[in-house]
Amino acid sequence: MIPRQSLDPSLQTQTGKAVGDMFGRIAPVYDLLNRCLSLGLDISWRKALVQAAAPPSGGRVLDLAAGTLDVAAMLQASRPRLSVLAADISLPMLMRGRSKNRQGKILPLGADARRLPLPDASVDRVTIAFGLRNIRPRENAYAEIQRVLTPGGRLCILEFGSGGQRILGGLYNLYLTRFLPALGRLISRDRQAYTYLARTICEFPTAPALEAEMRTAGFSWVTGLPLSSGIVWLHTAGV
Ligand SMILES: C[S@@+](CC[C@H](N)C(=O)[O-])C[C@H]1O[C@@H](n2cnc3c(N)ncnc32)[C@H](O)[C@@H]1O
Repeated sequence: MIPRQSLDPSLQTQTGKAVGDMFGRIAPVYDLLNRCLSLGLDISWRKALVQAAAPPSGGRVLDLAAGTLDVAAMLQASRPRLSVLAADISLPMLMRGRSKNRQGKILPLGADARRLPLPDASVDRVTIAFGLRNIRPRENAYAEIQRVLTPGGRLCILEFGSGGQRILGGLYNLYLTRFLPALGRLISRDRQAYTYLARTICEFPTAPALEAEMRTAGFSWVTGLPLSSGIVWLHTAGV
């Protein structure tokens, strides 16, 4: 089990600033740890997200909780005429992604997903990879996403499945709750970040529960696709 008391109280209530500050601290090692801890699978998961988003050429995409710009860079590479906005609450994470935006085509934006500084109906797609878990209440982000999407627009979410379910006969759960926090702590030298990661995955709703939540929040349709035995899910929703 993940010890709750080892987390900063502000992270337990998951205020945007505390979570953003924590990501700011691990920004220098974030990409390396992503590759190591996912055994390189994160690249193919993000590719599936970009494929599902299928933005119109010349359209506008908002990548939310964009972190170090992995998804934003993939989106830009998939359609050179696309306008890509990359929003994140942590400026150090966005700064860390500068090397993936050498041509300056991606527009980084320091912003909270719950209060987006964008006009209504201003983007054709919203993507969010491994970000939704960090945002509370999720309903505030759903409302903002629906507000900024154009009619017929689409939200594509890449997120871990609920670690509360046994996956691969429990092997994955053991990895998640024991190995991942220990290795994350060793490499990042941050006592909280990777315990926080495991805990938020364990507490995250199952795919059907998340999809029901999104329908209640007003999305007109929602689909889900398990990746890597349900370790990760790709959810797509329409306004
Ligand atoms: C696990 S990282 C994912 C980064 C990136 N999307 C990826 O695929 O690697 C989660 C990101 O969510 C951001 N974040 C957390 N709360 C947020 C909020 N309320 N609004 C915007 N970004 C937020 C963090 O700063 C962090 O960069």
